[in-house]
Order: sequence, then structure tokens, then C-alpha cells
Amino acid sequence: MTRSGTSLPPTIDIETLGFDAGAHLLVKHALATLPEGASLRVTGQAPGWQAQLADWCRAQGHALAWADASQRLAHVTPGTAEAGRWRDAAHTGHADPRAAGAVLPEARAHWGLAARGARVEAGSPDIAFRLDRKDEVWAENAAELYAQAVSAQWDPEVALDWQVAFTHPPEVEAAIRQVMTYMVENENAALLVPARFLGQIHPHYRELQAALAIQVADEARHIEVFTRRIRLGGGEPALSTAGGQASLKSLLDEPDFSVAGFLLSVLGEGTFVNLLQFLAAHAPDPLTRQIAKLAARDEARHVALGMSHLLYRLQQEPAMRGRLAHAVEARHDSLAGTAGLNEEVFDALVLIGAGALTPAAVAAGFAKVQQLMREMADGRFTRLLRLGFERAEAERLSALHTRNFM
Ligand SMILES: [Fe+2]
Ligand SMILES: [Fe+2]
Repeated sequence: MTRSGTSLPPTIDIETLGFDAGAHLLVKHALATLPEGASLRVTGQAPGWQAQLADWCRAQGHALAWADASQRLAHVTPGTAEAGRWRDAAHTGHADPRAAGAVLPEARAHWGLAARGARVEAGSPDIAFRLDRKDEVWAENAAELYAQAVSAQWDPEVALDWQVAFTHPPEVEAAIRQVMTYMVENENAALLVPARFLGQIHPHYRELQAALAIQVADEARHIEVFTRRIRLGGGEPALSTAGGQASLKSLLDEPDFSVAGFLLSVLGEGTFVNLLQFLAAHAPDPLTRQIAKLAARDEARHVALGMSHLLYRLQQEPAMRGRLAHAVEARHDSLAGTAGLNEEVFDALVLIGAGALTPAAVAAGFAKVQQLMREMADGRFTRLLRLGFERAEAERLSALHTRNFM
């Protein structure tokens, strides 16, 4: 920009650059540096630049006047945002979640895929997201849990030693394959439940979106390593039961995000953490113990996200507690006709705890599995208390939880 004289407004010469080739960039940036109330003089030589400048000014809400009838010199006075194209732009919160009013109670369909905090032009298309209210999805520590998950990602190739030599008896190896087969099936549910909701959450709630996305990635990794563990040494997956699948299907069928998170994460994955800790302590080989340890760490984050969301929702809507209790009861009733935990899985856990097929070893394994069941029930009870359930109610609901664990 040049100044022809101290009393004259700044002048920009766009030379032979047309508005079909980017001339508006020069004009736009020159306007942005003008002092309040000033105008900009624009001159150029590209064919038809005058009409292009006039069109552009109209679209942007800037006033345009010509110095004389020859139209060799234009005076452009910037319009306010209120007068221009962005006058009806939607305010969509702030990118920084800690800023006041950053995350809004309701997200609008016409904000669509815009970055939170962007100004969205009027007339942008509506994109419908079923979960578009903060109280339905939010968790106060979603951003922290996402960051933790990013730094805690592990590469199965690096974090695990697949060259391990097995020294345990073949019947214990068969028990490991049965438990891993059961766990893959549970992980499939744990991947699909958040994945289905992920596509329904308004991107305004991006911290939640990110936390669920990495949770889905965690589950994909669990499925991979459990499957790989089954196949190590030439094995194939074992048995999948109707009762187990019925229990998991009831999770897939739950349409409410909070209820699904309660059943899956607070009760199911919480129980699963105990199961993984059992395997981390009692599996016969170091590879399986390490797999269980790493997966348990991931699951603990999934439980934390579910807890955080429910604490937030229950704070807004204490009556939700009744709906959660009802969901546990309804699920229990619908599964009453099924066998619950696969007998094969129960026996496999006993055998893993036993380590050998002798009466004394099986007695010890059986006691360890009884202890596991008590720890699972205690864990559920403790989490239910933290969600504000009365002691008796927490105990009752913990006991009604599916015998399939998840
Ligand atoms: Fe998992
Ligand atoms: Fe999980």
C-alpha cells in the first residue's frame, strides 16, 4: 500500500491482477489495516476489474464510490461485520473449552461440521446430529482422558514379546483360548457401542468425540491382540454362547447414550477390569499377563469416561438415577432365561487359576474365581455409591448385573 500524500487515504494498486485471480486478497488485507473510519483507494488495469470490485464489495457489505466517471479510482469504505456477509453468522462457542461460554448447552444443526468457535455463515446446510445437547453427552474430564489415552497408546509389536515359549499344559492353553474368545466377543460390543454413538454426537462436543474415538481405537487393538494370542501356536477361537451374545446384544440395543454408558462402561468395563487383573495375576505365560495388564489400563480410562459423564448428567438430572436402575432391572429380566456366563468360560477361569488338573490345584483355582466374583461385585457397588445410589440400592443393582460380566 502506498500513500500519495499525508491527507489522502491509503491507495492500493492491484495492477493487472483480476478478482478472478485473487485481487480481493490484496483489497481485503489493505482494508483490515485501515484505521477506524478510513477508506481505501483502489486502482487497477485488469480488464473489467471495476465491475468485479463492485460485485465483491456488495457481497462483503463494503461501500464503493468512484472518484469520477472514468472509474479509474475507487473509494472503498469497509462495512461493519453487521452489514456484510457475516452479519447473520452464528456464534458457536470457543475453541478453548475453559473459556466462558465455550461449550454451549445446545448445538445447532446449521453449525454443522464447523470448528467450535468459528463464525458460521447464514445459509449453511443443516446437519442433524441426534445428540446435540451438552447434558446428554458431556464429561468434564473428556479432554484430559483423551490426552492420557493418546500418550498411553501401545504398539502390540513393541509392547509385547510374541516370541514367548509356552511351558503350561495344553488344557490350560485351551482355557486361555476360551477366555480370549469370550473377550473378543465382549470387545466387539465395547467397540460398536461407542462407535455407533460417535456418529450421532454433534462435533461441537469435540472433546467427547475425541475421547470416544480413541476408545474405539483401544478396543480395535484389544480385539487384535486377543485374536493374535488365540492363534499363537496354531490355535483357533473356541466357543461363543447364546447367553453371552444375548447379554451383549442388549448393550447394542440401548438407544440412550447415558444408559448405554452406564451399562457398558460403569458396570461392564468396570467388571472387565477385574477380569483382566485376574488374568494379569494368574495367566500361565508372561505374554498373556502383559496383554491383560495393558488392556486393563485402557479399560480403566473407559470406565473413568463413563463415570465422568454420568456424574455430570446426574448433577443436571438427578431423576436419571431411577432410569439407570430401571435399565439394570429390565436387562436382568430380559436375560433371566439365558445361562448368563458361559459355563465354558467359568471353567476356563478356574483352570487358569488352578494351573493344573489336580484336585488341590482346582480347589485353589475355584477359590480364586470366587474371590474374583466378589471383587467384581464390590467394584460395581463402589462405583454405584460414587454415582449417588443408596447403599442397599447399590448392592441390589450390583447383584442384578449380567452374569456375563459385560
Ligand atoms: Fe477393551
Ligand atoms: Fe473398553
